[in-house]
Amino acid sequence: MTNNKITIAIDGFSSCGKSTLAKQIAAKLGYNFIDSGAMYRAITLYFLRNGVKLNNKESIDNALSNIQLHFQFNENTGKSEIHLNEENVEKYIRDLLVAEKVSEVAAIKEVRTFAVAQQQEMGKKKGIVMDGRDIGTVVFPDAELKIFMTADPAIRVKRRFEELYATHPSVTIDEVKHNLELRDYIDSNREESPLRKADDALTLDNSSLTREEQFDMVLKWVNEKTNL
Ligand code: DC
Repeated sequence: MTNNKITIAIDGFSSCGKSTLAKQIAAKLGYNFIDSGAMYRAITLYFLRNGVKLNNKESIDNALSNIQLHFQFNENTGKSEIHLNEENVEKYIRDLLVAEKVSEVAAIKEVRTFAVAQQQEMGKKKGIVMDGRDIGTVVFPDAELKIFMTADPAIRVKRRFEELYATHPSVTIDEVKHNLELRDYIDSNREESPLRKADDALTLDNSSLTREEQFDMVLKWVNEKTNL
């Protein structure tokens, strides 16, 4: 593999394991991993905490002008964790309360402009793996490697339920299923940068792949792109 650092964009539906894969690949390559969904979640947390009205442009603009986001690498988790105005909010942003609102917040034009500008800045030096919904289409349309992840909906619900249950034992399968279906629908049908596969993205359906198989497949793609 040469020293040529590339940009890797990973998009796909909720709970396909995008972040897990992105983190693995970034660790292997010594790249920076950015979970762009964490930014929309942190903005949503701020909106919820401050009662920001989603139908009021002034209220949104004002809130965004008071939000500072940054990622800080945590050696224990091996992940860059999101900070909202200097507070590490990683443990709050996965709550169902945030999950219930985040797609609505992420559909707001001003919110996307705010987040995308920061994401593009982070990717300027390449050597980055970013996952989200519009990374290959809008944030990094020139990314050398674009992956579109998908998995059977029932498998995604099960994975998400198991993940949430560990910290929120009161959650039910039905709640998780409803939330995932709703988010997929809003993310795919919104006016601003809807989730769609970039024309030059490679599809990765991991319904019946182990993490190792998936990792090997993507490393092969990375090698192909960096050895050009
Ligand atoms: O990846 P995630 O589930 O943490 O993302 C949370 C929400 O943020 C998701 O419902 C859609 C939105 N999102 C987005 O619109 N664009 C991105 N690049 C990343 C996430």
